[in-house]
Amino acid sequence: MTDELRFQTDPESADDSWAAFAAATSGRGPLEYFHSAMDFVDGNNGRGRQAIDLGCRGGADTRALLSRGWRVFAMDAEPGARRLLTAGLPPDSLHRLDIAIGAFHEVELPGADLVYAQFSLPFAGEYFERAVVNALKAVVPGGAFVGQLLGINDGWITEEGAAAVDQRWIEQSFADFASVEIDEREHDAPYGPERETRHFHFFHIQARR
Ligand SMILES: C[S@@+](CC[C@H](N)C(=O)[O-])C[C@H]1O[C@@H](n2cnc3c(N)ncnc32)[C@H](O)[C@@H]1O
Repeated sequence: MTDELRFQTDPESADDSWAAFAAATSGRGPLEYFHSAMDFVDGNNGRGRQAIDLGCRGGADTRALLSRGWRVFAMDAEPGARRLLTAGLPPDSLHRLDIAIGAFHEVELPGADLVYAQFSLPFAGEYFERAVVNALKAVVPGGAFVGQLLGINDGWITEEGAAAVDQRWIEQSFADFASVEIDEREHDAPYGPERETRHFHFFHIQARR
């Protein structure tokens, strides 16, 4: 992620909160993970298929999905997501967008051809396992999950109380999927308003049910 997921606002106006994260990322384009997901599901022509953007916050990926013709169920715990998601959206896109504000482990998700969870589920903290179960059960037969889960060395584990997993945990959790690709990455990269170097350790996961 990381370098690309950095804050892009005036450092004076940003802080460590998710609100600052959302403001900083709402105007960005899709990152490499999103393009990877589109390749995985032949997603550049959504053809009205249903996607879920889990932890949508700034709305960049929801907008990218809508512009490719997907229907999108966008959800986040932060109420401010609603305003960020709908600002400036054309009527045709609004028509294909549903928004839910709530917690990953509690929100009732529709069946989806793509569940997209970009650096979001680990922040469910103590509800992490329930959050993952909720996310995976939303994937319809033939559908896909693409997202990132954190490894034990990631700085967010101690800084934010985020949940860590390992390769074995992922393989077990995706046991009823037809295929799962796990790409483990670990590196330092600048992040945040101060562009401080932080340590990233995560698994980029692409799975098909
Ligand atoms: C690191 S941000 C990633 C946002 C976006 N997916 C991206 O990649 O730019 C994590 C997001 O998850 C949301 N979040 C954290 N814990 C949550 C929870 N338990 N339930 C729902 N959303 C949560 C935050 O509000 C935030 O928008």
